Amino acid sequence: MENSAAPGQRSTARRSFLKGGVFASGALVTSGLFGGAASAFARPADEDDRGDNEFTDGDAAILRFLAAAELIEADLWTQYAELGGNTNGSPNPYQKALQNLDGDGSQYITSNTLDEVSHAAFLNAYLESQGAEPVDLEGFRNLQGSRATGAKNIGRLTNLMNLNVDTSWYIRYRSTTNPDFGATFPQAITISNRTAIPRTDADMGNANHIQVIANTAAFHFGTIEQGGSSLYASLSRKVTSEQVLEITLGIGGDEVAHFLEWVDFAGNGVQPPVAPVSFQGLTFPDFTKKGPLFQPNLIFPVPSEFIHPKLPHCAVIRPLTDKFAGARATVAFLTNMNLFAGQSKQFFAELHRLADAADAAHRQG
Ligand SMILES: [Fe+2]
Ligand SMILES: [Fe+2]
Repeated sequence: MENSAAPGQRSTARRSFLKGGVFASGALVTSGLFGGAASAFARPADEDDRGDNEFTDGDAAILRFLAAAELIEADLWTQYAELGGNTNGSPNPYQKALQNLDGDGSQYITSNTLDEVSHAAFLNAYLESQGAEPVDLEGFRNLQGSRATGAKNIGRLTNLMNLNVDTSWYIRYRSTTNPDFGATFPQAITISNRTAIPRTDADMGNANHIQVIANTAAFHFGTIEQGGSSLYASLSRKVTSEQVLEITLGIGGDEVAHFLEWVDFAGNGVQPPVAPVSFQGLTFPDFTKKGPLFQPNLIFPVPSEFIHPKLPHCAVIRPLTDKFAGARATVAFLTNMNLFAGQSKQFFAELHRLADAADAAHRQG
């Protein structure tokens, strides 16, 4: 990767950034960026609570993996937003099908996309502000996206047209068991090798077809955002700098906010009036009569095992362990959903390199 500096280059990069970087010419700079009470980014509320702000190599590795994850999220959400988000003019059938799940669905998709773009840009800018190299995946933007009207003809990092959508989170968050204690969960609906966006305008011609595509997207939204919620919570445990912890908890909280909306949204796809709906072998049934593990309006995490089986059940984000929620687990999760179908060996090698470094980070104190 063009931005992967060797460890020995780090101090040089930091100096050059402080000297001539993006913030250095601004009137805000007084004495260093983060180093003391007069730091350009210090806030009044922090003055009595500066804490330990040592930025470690582990912190950099964690933020780099998160930056890569956010660039991937931004890429996939942008594809959703171009076709299903807020647009000018009359809505296309995909937007209408998404709005059948929630009248505000297109706005939520546009908002979620803006959030991901902001997460990626912030993390890379913060890395640079600390003299650490940012993450650049532009060279991997080679995949063909949708050819439907509204989709931009630009290279993509991700492929939304052959997805295996893991829907086990739907059951997991309605159960009282926890994957970190060995629990496993069935798929709520088996969605394999399906598109979550109209590939061409022809995919928008049949009402059942486009609703099934929109419902596939709805579950995929939840799948992505529950993964992000667990990833941030998992990596936060290994952060050393208080400021980096502020960043991972702050952005992680926004991932949870996204997830909650998509839990409700997907639930609207498995109850009347939308469900049942089928097209070419994929059915979204009516879940309202199937018991609490399927109950669509159970949108908050049901209390489950947490920390130790003898402790009382607690409503939490889960999983949180490295094995199921760490960086490598996240790469496996995204790869298994076929999100990177068509990507190069070099792309996977870069993701694995970033994930290995993030998972190797340890909290120092
Ligand atoms: Fe994000
Ligand atoms: Fe997200």
